[in-house]
Amino acid sequence: MAKTIKFRLDGTAVEALEGETVLEAAERAGLRIPHYCWHKALGNPGNCRMCVVEVEGAPKPQAACRLPAKEGLVVRSASPASRRAQSAALELHLVDHPLDCPVCDQAGECGLQDYYMDIGRYPSAMREDKAHAAKRVPVGPHIMLDQERCILCTRCARFVSQVSKSHELGIFGRGHNEAVALVPGRVLDNPYSGCLADVCPVGALTDRDFRFQVRVWYLDGADSVCPGCSRGCGIRVHTSTRRPWHNKGRRLARLKPRFTEVNGHWICDEGRYGYADFDTDRLGKVMRLKDPSAELGWDVVCDEVAVAIRQGMLKDPAGLAVVASGGLSNEDWRAFRSLFVDALKLERFLFAPEPDQVGEQDELLRRRDKVPNLEGGKAAGFGTQIKSLDWDGLAGEIESGKVWGLYVVDRDPVKVWGERGRALAEGLSLLVCQGPRKGLTGGLAHYRLPATDWLEEAGSFTNFQGQVQTYLPALKPLGAARPDWDIFSALEKAVNG
Ligand code: SF4
Ligand code: FES
Repeated sequence: MAKTIKFRLDGTAVEALEGETVLEAAERAGLRIPHYCWHKALGNPGNCRMCVVEVEGAPKPQAACRLPAKEGLVVRSASPASRRAQSAALELHLVDHPLDCPVCDQAGECGLQDYYMDIGRYPSAMREDKAHAAKRVPVGPHIMLDQERCILCTRCARFVSQVSKSHELGIFGRGHNEAVALVPGRVLDNPYSGCLADVCPVGALTDRDFRFQVRVWYLDGADSVCPGCSRGCGIRVHTSTRRPWHNKGRRLARLKPRFTEVNGHWICDEGRYGYADFDTDRLGKVMRLKDPSAELGWDVVCDEVAVAIRQGMLKDPAGLAVVASGGLSNEDWRAFRSLFVDALKLERFLFAPEPDQVGEQDELLRRRDKVPNLEGGKAAGFGTQIKSLDWDGLAGEIESGKVWGLYVVDRDPVKVWGERGRALAEGLSLLVCQGPRKGLTGGLAHYRLPATDWLEEAGSFTNFQGQVQTYLPALKPLGAARPDWDIFSALEKAVNG
């Protein structure tokens, strides 16, 4: 067990682990000491001097990020002497900073603004012109650089050298000419490049997808889990619903990493930017193909689907197939089992991962299988049935009449089958499309059952390591949509009734 060291910070007793600095121990204890260059995952170069603190018995202020915690140390981070030193460091950072907060996209979550209000508030002594540098430099597909706003903390350069190991950015020049810039001939285009907007404490590196869409103080947030692959990274979901004229009317504004043991401080760009079409092609209304304009209630449709399933199964119990997505939550999987296995005694299930759900894998976070919860399916007893889906085999069985009915959950087989899709769908006696999006299958289904997407419900995923993680609703369901588990339960009631 690691040895613990006790010291006092601003009158509070703090316990540090052996080898920790004063700043690390303070952060772990939930006590804030100002800092820019230190980042828990990127080390402490000690160059910004914002963390200077008064230490009893020491002749000069010390940088808390470089100061090892020692037994009995008495540290003051908010004393007049500490505040003077921190304020002086801040003033130096602002010597060439453009102070363009009203038009800066970082406003509201900027380290410079926060510390100026907390510990700065000095009348500026600067009379000379500020040095100017490049603004609005699109350094990669996701990140915009503003060199004037940079405070040279080097977090970005450390990220591309230590985390993404892609080495596209560096700090070049000296004195007034020192600036963060691309390595000549390179583009900031690594699979984790969006994290640069998170690590930059000021508005020098901003997210091209999010910038100028909505001011951060209009955002709402909820803790969630990324459904982009089987890693299940922790995310914070930011939504914009109070001002629909912002963010091009999109309810989902951005996804940010949320620290968990699973993903540390990072998420990949695929997960971060995979939400662009979140509100596109959504199902919000319960619908019957032969009567699309009718206002139907869930009870009516569940009864009709239950009768259609029962009648078909009386003739051919093996002819109903279910195609489901590995995106179902643990709660969905349990209700799915209860309906299709326990109540209907079905045996034909077809689950992903499919060709469009398999992608790149690396040693940091990204996993090859791009579905979040096949492990949940295995835990619900479908382990042996989760294998690559044989779409051609299924098409052949529909054409030969072996399969008369298809219940599709959050997949789009008509799209997968391409030119054959329409004829195959029209050859079925029953096609049910349940999910958040219509797709091509929804346009041809006898019944459309609108389901919530993961951001509109509470639930949990089990990742490839077996870790169960819960997510919270960030948005209201659209129209009549309800969670998949709730639809399965309503249908089970109708089937049993
Ligand atoms: Fe630090 Fe941002 Fe400048 Fe990089 S761009 S050195 S992260 S302030
Ligand atoms: Fe300590 Fe930058 S955080 S010097």
